[in-house]
Order: sequence, then structure tokens, then C-alpha cells
Amino acid sequence: MSIFVANWKMQKTYKDIILWCKENNQELINLFSAEKSDKFIICPSFESIATVRELIDNQIAVGAQDCSEFQLGAHTGQVSVLSLKEIGCNYCIIGHSETRNFINNNSVIAKKALLLLNSNIVPIICIGESQEDKLNNKTFDVLIDELNSIISVIIKNNIFNKDIFIAYEPFWAIGSGIVPDIDILLRIVTFIKNYITKFFPKIGVKVLYGGSVNEKNITSFKIIKNLDGFLLGSSSLDFQLFKKIVLLNK
Ligand code: PGA
Repeated sequence: MSIFVANWKMQKTYKDIILWCKENNQELINLFSAEKSDKFIICPSFESIATVRELIDNQIAVGAQDCSEFQLGAHTGQVSVLSLKEIGCNYCIIGHSETRNFINNNSVIAKKALLLLNSNIVPIICIGESQEDKLNNKTFDVLIDELNSIISVIIKNNIFNKDIFIAYEPFWAIGSGIVPDIDILLRIVTFIKNYITKFFPKIGVKVLYGGSVNEKNITSFKIIKNLDGFLLGSSSLDFQLFKKIVLLNK
């Protein structure tokens, strides 16, 4: 079974999104009905989440692309996890590199993770190194820092029975057409899983990979047995391309 998270970023307008949902709902049900075992989580932009939830079959999950680090209050332009839950979001991406371009602060991301876990929304926490970190052999240092801030919030708040998703998304792979060498990715995925489960054997950790996944490279990930799925950006926008990727992964 694989998990596919579609991160639509700001690539579609509200009307484009409605059209996509109406045109593809039936084929999505065929592709992801319970017995097919793959899981699909659509993450549209904020204004479209409630509409997508209404238009798309319940076997497909809906997520947000970010949330506020605060629960409620005077925070202009922010979106509360409480609202996300009310409109049917069960997942939320946090720490995406495109949001880290504005604030790259692991403790803010940990605060968001805590709010999400307390609201029973599964956080999809993006971690990954920049090109510079990679060149300086700092990949594992960066990943450990990012994981430690999440781990400490979980320990402090005694949250030991919830699911979390970690998406390994090296900055340099996003939108570039370049993916990591498979043997390095295998090491990183195994490292992330072991690192978290060592602390929390009862937490359901799923590890995803994101960054330039497409129809040409999807089959190369098959040898990474402990990879639970993918976070797709541009390859998730066109339904027929996305469907091809899901089928090639089977
Ligand atoms: P990409 O984006 O698939 O277009 O590289 C992935 C992401 O940003 O999550």
C-alpha cells in the first residue's frame, strides 16, 4: 500500500479545483476505493478545502498545506487548526520548504504539530536539507535537528498514540527534476523511521518522499520497502498523469 499526498500549492484557482473534482471523482473512487489499498490525500489551497470535501468521495482524504502556530486570536491572515478540523481536514502539511523560505523555525513547526495532534489532524511534517547542507555533508545533522524538535514536543505533551507522517523533501529536489540516489534515499528513509520509532514504538510513523516524483522515476522507488508513500507537487495536477503514476507504483 502507498500513500499519495497531492500538494497543489497555489497552482489552481478555486474554479479549476471545482472542475478537477467534478471531472475526476468517479475515477478517483475506482483508483482508491478501500479494497485497492492505496490512500490519497488531496491538499488544495485553503479557500477550496471545504468545497473539495463536499465534492470528493469520503474514501479520499483532504488536507491543508499549512496552519497557524496559534489556536485562535489576533493573527491576521492565519488559519486555525480548529477551523481546518471543522471543514473536514484530517491531514495538514507543515514545514514545507516553500513555507520555510519565510520562517524556517523548527520550534514553530513543532508548535503547529502539537496543535494538529491535539485536534486529531495528522501532521505531514516536511524535513530535508538545502543544496548547501548537502554539499557540506550536513544532511543528517539537519534531519536530526528537525526530528528532535518534533520528538521533544511529543515527549513533553505525552502524545504517544497518534499517527504522524514525515515527508523527506530535500529542498534541491523540489520542482527541479532531480531526485536523490536511491541508495542514499533508502538510508535516509530507514534512518528517519528508526530514529522516531526508537523513541516512540507506539506512534504510527509513516515516511514519505517528495521532490520531482514523476511517471519516469516512480518505479525506481519500489526497492525502498519501508517507504510508505509520496508527496507529489506538479505531477498531481493533471489527473491522467497522476493516475499513471499511481498505477505504475502498483
Ligand atoms: P514537486 O513538488 O513534486 O513539484 O517537486 C513536491 C513538493 O513540493 O511537495
